[in-house]
Amino acid sequence: MTAHISAQPGDIAETVLMPGDPLRAKWIAETYLTDPVCYSSVRNMYGFTGDYRGHRISVQGSGMGMPSASIYTHELLAEYGVKTVVRVGSAGAITERLALRDVVAGIGAASDSNMNRIRFDGIVDYAPVADFGLLRDAVDVAAEQGVTAHVGQLLSSDVFYTDRPDMYQRLAGYGVLAVEMEAAAMYTLAAKFGARALALVTISDHLVHETHLSSEERQSSFAEMVEIALAAVTR
Ligand code: ADE
Repeated sequence: MTAHISAQPGDIAETVLMPGDPLRAKWIAETYLTDPVCYSSVRNMYGFTGDYRGHRISVQGSGMGMPSASIYTHELLAEYGVKTVVRVGSAGAITERLALRDVVAGIGAASDSNMNRIRFDGIVDYAPVADFGLLRDAVDVAAEQGVTAHVGQLLSSDVFYTDRPDMYQRLAGYGVLAVEMEAAAMYTLAAKFGARALALVTISDHLVHETHLSSEERQSSFAEMVEIALAAVTR
């Protein structure tokens, strides 16, 4: 048991999908896994382990934002022997190059968070990146499923309701595609613990067009992305 996960050693698979919303973790487990077992419900941040087409897979809610996502990712990697984490979440598009429902695979994650400034004494701007093999597998299986996964940088922000939309515009000019709130921390921790990480996100809101998905559309585009994630980690 760790401070935030009540699983016993061995309860969690080496590969974990991590949605922000714990109810989405429950939905993934109940929809895609055979014989899912709930290994933790501490703070209602559910974690489940089950079987997906002969592969042992876990799903663990991460919560919103890098402090929360870091707690769960750290405990999975440091204490439970997890080797692969895939964030499955949503993001806001900051470029005309994306449309609602698009899937983005984050090759790297810029951030306005102080976490890595603290970690590296403010001397080095560390570049959190995805695992290349996992990224390549996700892009390939997406194409096989008829979905184009855009590959580019994410912005992992501490802020959902920003006072700086001008900064999004500037970052878009430097190739950043979308803003979310967890990837940079997960990529950094995976590197620290010698594990693999990837963030897959669907575009749930478009900050240039000021449009967003309905809850039904969010659910169907989320399902499409989870199927890509499951296919990628079991390839
Ligand atoms: N996730 C989905 N939309 C987002 C946004 N606009 N900002 C940060 N995270 C998000």
